Amino acid sequence: MAETSPPHPSDIFLPSPDAVHRSRVPDYDGLYARSIADPHSFWEERARLLSFTRRHETLLDWNPVTFEGRWLVGAQGNITHNALDRHVAEGYGTKTALIWSGDGGEEESITYAELLERTIRFSLVLKKLGVGKGDRVAIFLPPTPAQVVAMLACARLGAIHAVVFSGFSQAALKSRLEDFEPRVLVTADVAYRRGKTIPLLETARKAREGAAAVTSLLIVERKGDSPHTLLPGEHLFSELRDSVRHENPGDPEPMGADDPLFVLYTSGTTGKPKGIVHMHLGYMLGTFATTREIFDLRDSDVYFCVADPGWITGHSYIVYGPLLNRATVLLAEGTPDYPDAGRHWSLIERHRVTIYYSTPTTIRLLMRFGDDWPKKFDIRCLRILGSVGEPLNPEAWHWFRRVTGGHLPLIDTWWQTETGMIMVTPFVSTPEKPGSAGRPFPGVQIDVVDAKCRTVPPGETGTVVIRTPWPSMFRTVFRDPERYRKYWTEIPGAFFSGDSARRDEDGYFFFLGRVDDVIKVAGHRLGTAEIESALITHPHIAEAAAIGKPHELKGEIIKVFVVLHPHAEKTPPGHDEIKKHVRTELGAIAEPHEIDIVVSLPKTRSGKIMRRVLKAREMGLPEGDLSTLED
Ligand code: WTA
Repeated sequence: MAETSPPHPSDIFLPSPDAVHRSRVPDYDGLYARSIADPHSFWEERARLLSFTRRHETLLDWNPVTFEGRWLVGAQGNITHNALDRHVAEGYGTKTALIWSGDGGEEESITYAELLERTIRFSLVLKKLGVGKGDRVAIFLPPTPAQVVAMLACARLGAIHAVVFSGFSQAALKSRLEDFEPRVLVTADVAYRRGKTIPLLETARKAREGAAAVTSLLIVERKGDSPHTLLPGEHLFSELRDSVRHENPGDPEPMGADDPLFVLYTSGTTGKPKGIVHMHLGYMLGTFATTREIFDLRDSDVYFCVADPGWITGHSYIVYGPLLNRATVLLAEGTPDYPDAGRHWSLIERHRVTIYYSTPTTIRLLMRFGDDWPKKFDIRCLRILGSVGEPLNPEAWHWFRRVTGGHLPLIDTWWQTETGMIMVTPFVSTPEKPGSAGRPFPGVQIDVVDAKCRTVPPGETGTVVIRTPWPSMFRTVFRDPERYRKYWTEIPGAFFSGDSARRDEDGYFFFLGRVDDVIKVAGHRLGTAEIESALITHPHIAEAAAIGKPHELKGEIIKVFVVLHPHAEKTPPGHDEIKKHVRTELGAIAEPHEIDIVVSLPKTRSGKIMRRVLKAREMGLPEGDLSTLED
């Protein structure tokens, strides 16, 4: 949905001189030039703002053969010490760390001292279940304070967490558990969505069947009023919490350059999701510095990011980045149109939100509900707008800016699960162009290239690559080093992002979408192969192909083409049945929007489905080179 023609010169928005003057990055061009001439000093300066029990000897040890970037070698420290203990020790214990607004309107406000206390208690419970440094814990919780606390508690113990989005189905959770093999799975009795009760525990129990590595299922009680019959290996958090009340809190575990912080599963080009491994110290440095400088954080800010900590945006820009910066974070459960389309605007008004980091799909949804909704609320408290996850089309860009006062900086940030931190972004002090995510974060060398890794001229479309290591870079793909290598060998000489973009004469990036078989539906990342694998587990479906089709609201929607088994042709499954099947296999976010039952799929002679041809046909475009087509 990104616009491909260059913006009109009048479509360039200049920051106010005051914003530039007050900004943490008043001279982007100068800072960027210096950071590239000497990236070492740039990152050293930022690392110095963090606290370690031992300082690093080497900032970066880059191995161009294995593509491993070891950051802060020799250092010891812990991200929760920097995100919690340090702030409390410096006298900010009474500052609000987390404001939580539940799906049903219930609210909770938690100070830094309380968040630390809860994190310690949770870590003692995990310890009681045998969790220590290097152990793995899967977290299957809705966006609630418990989810944030569970993540921090793992980090404090040096355990590796894998948060699984609570909207995933039992089968999707199971496949992640089978790969990750956590010792403990943390879940809740129920979740709520749009007022409906979702039996999360049931899903977790089913997913756990057969996942032998999971020795304990830890249940956080959300409902709290119904007595639970526990199965073997199941524990109620409330009971264990009481039993550890008198235990010594202990210090956060010292972590080094080679210690992972978490694994987060994301979609790639095969049917199997990949576990992106992020490292404790490097990730801390990257998320700390980007949050501080891009969102220009001040102590008086109330920062609202609409993501779910089940995705990377929630990891980096709800939990770790903002807490490292001592921010007050608003976490909202539920959807932006429940109970009505004023959900976000009313939260902004009530909590005096100053920074609103949203997504294109949310913005377009709110735009559909019209100007009257934002007008009903006093949202003059806002000072910065943000967007992430998919291209923000100029129409939505203009609307978002207009209904929020017409003068606020709109920070459209580009990054990925793999990068861990924002890589391309405007700053409050830089001119903005609607439809553009701005320019690279200082210290980041990102380029638009052809297949031989040569920079393409301004205005031309190419593939986005990252040429040099960055602190919060992922270290590997869990249990799959070959898949990690592929990122660095697809286009020799750089990290292959999977995105295409063009840059204008001023170096502004206009991202155009994925060039691989990954699609983005309402900002959620899905692999076409994952959807196809789910489809062919249906007893009547022989073959399947999935494509992303442009959609006004969601950016892309899923369209699938299925070929039935001969035995099923007389009683073909209905569209609803096929949709339901995918929902059960993967979750509601992967449900196909459109289904075509066809007699065959276009394939290459070697049997590979040509999704490109299906997509071109679907969109009425030329089908391109068909010389490899079998039939
Ligand atoms: C897309 C989300 C255009 C892109 C943080 C990328 C964007 C993928 C933007 C990563 C943006 C993210 N403009 N496209 N501002 N931000 N993307 O791993 O295709 O869920 O490769 O991380 O989202 O998705 P992921």
